[in-house]
Amino acid sequence: MHQSGEKIACLTAYDAPTAFWAAHAGVDVLLVGDSLGMVVQGHATTLPVSLDEMVYHTQMVQRGNDQAWCIADMPFMSDASLESALQCAARLMKEGGANMVKLEGGDRVLGIVQRLAELGVPVCGHLGLLPQSVEKHGYKVLGKDDDSANKLLKSAQALQDAGADMLVLECVPSALAQQITNALVIPVIGIGSGAATSGQVLVLHDVLGITLGKSPKFAHNFLQEHNSIQAALAGYVTAVKTHAFPQACHAVG
Ligand code: KIV
Repeated sequence: MHQSGEKIACLTAYDAPTAFWAAHAGVDVLLVGDSLGMVVQGHATTLPVSLDEMVYHTQMVQRGNDQAWCIADMPFMSDASLESALQCAARLMKEGGANMVKLEGGDRVLGIVQRLAELGVPVCGHLGLLPQSVEKHGYKVLGKDDDSANKLLKSAQALQDAGADMLVLECVPSALAQQITNALVIPVIGIGSGAATSGQVLVLHDVLGITLGKSPKFAHNFLQEHNSIQAALAGYVTAVKTHAFPQACHAVG
């Protein structure tokens, strides 16, 4: 899809029925995101989510999903050492049934990405706004000045060189997201990062307008224009595929 220029529609899922209906609506990639800590468990951040919980939710998603590619997030601190990162990825794939694991960060995680790739584990990187680092860095947009933009571009290239097969860019200015997408061979999935990436990801609860508190500005509630959850999910997929989502106003920079 990336090579043929078809936009990749990615959506978070946390249980069997939402995974089933999202996959049947045409969602290509289901992300069992640690955002579940906020949108399902009601925490203020993703930090409390445990590996056991990620395995549990990935298992549920994979019971409902019979066709989409499934990525599972490695939770906060699971990559504190190579050993714990390998154990985490093993559990998400062997017990959870994930097809790929995702971990946040750039240079810090290169050794882990390389080892996982050597072991045959498909890896998705995650750069830009890093929710697991919120206590240290806050929810801020990175890559706004030349220096941090260059750092992000270099980190993206380094992740690809280390063996990452996919990259999520969160809240990166749209021009930079485009530059990174063009510079890489692997697909780049954007969230709040403009329209030029190989695909888009949103949090399910934002797409259905059932988030506790405010949804981010770049998100869109597709249930507003559709009369069922199934139709809203299909509407999201169509909007991504036809480039109707995101529009320029949904980009961060
Ligand atoms: O946890 C998550 O849902 C994510 C997406 C926001 C990309 O990482």
